Amino acid sequence: MLIKQASDILSSEITAESVYLRRRQLLKAAGVATLGAILSPPLKASEAVPGASGKLLPGVTRSPFSTDQQPNSWADVTGYNNYYEFGTGKADPARRARDFAPLPWTVKVGGECDKPGTYAYEDLVSRHRLEERIYRLRCVEAWSMIIPWVGIPLASIIERLQPNSDARFVNFRTLYDPDRMPGQRRRTLNWPYEEGLTMAEAMHPLTLIAVGLYGRELPNQNGAPMRLVVPWKYGFKSIKAIAEINFTRTQPRSSWQQATPSEYGFYANVNPEVPHPRWSQARERPIGAGLFAGKKPTLMFNGYGEQVASLYAGMDLRKNY
Ligand code: MTE
Repeated sequence: MLIKQASDILSSEITAESVYLRRRQLLKAAGVATLGAILSPPLKASEAVPGASGKLLPGVTRSPFSTDQQPNSWADVTGYNNYYEFGTGKADPARRARDFAPLPWTVKVGGECDKPGTYAYEDLVSRHRLEERIYRLRCVEAWSMIIPWVGIPLASIIERLQPNSDARFVNFRTLYDPDRMPGQRRRTLNWPYEEGLTMAEAMHPLTLIAVGLYGRELPNQNGAPMRLVVPWKYGFKSIKAIAEINFTRTQPRSSWQQATPSEYGFYANVNPEVPHPRWSQARERPIGAGLFAGKKPTLMFNGYGEQVASLYAGMDLRKNY
């Protein structure tokens, strides 16, 4: 069966537009991500996706935070990746991460929180309802995709870890294991890959911990078993294979900031008006759109401005790039 048009899902399966808009207003006012999951019908396992592999995840519900744009194909999402732990070519991760065994997996939690410790992946994830979130992904390299993630709001996990009043940022680290991640044998980056968010960004209802794709377990090349997805920021913020979470008082320095501070900042919000020092960010190349489709304009905050612009009120986005 073909993938359903997201627009079909919204009109025929969710509800009339007026109700949908009211629900959106409600969600916005409440600022509660999981409410969307409660109001939306579950995904059907029968929605097979051409080429897809991996175990189907049970009990996935739709989210009104999803875009109604048509998602990229399974082949695009799992065949064109950035994952330097498995090589720097776009096709490297699919090939070189094939034998990576993500489970068993643990996440070490520390810093300014009341519940530090080493958590099993299942313990962190299984107690939460899984949601499908179809998000736009805009890479800093000026290509883009539409990706149907399955995951949990990061806020739900953080609430359980109980950050204290000194926690101002969250720092994430990928697994460091050059035997399992062969790209780490070369110093392409300062390993392990590191990323960070402010607490407000981390608690925002759009910020997701993804554990799946197209209703199935997350493929290795997309960051199995769990990765971050922050749809209004350049893709490099969305760190894969998270093995460590630390709550900090000071702003973490992410891997790309460490590598090239003049080119990559902490915030990395998608912004068509602030060019990368070596290329414009005004337009993007949608992957899978065909050879003659051309580029399309990039939207401020990747089109999520209505939900996130208030996080940056009064901030100079040229300085805080
Ligand atoms: N996370 C780790 N650990 N290593 C990486 O090289 N690349 C980032 C991000 N997360 C990267 C990472 C970049 S540059 C992008 S654009 C996205 O992952 C790509 O995610 P995708 O391959 O699932 O589309």
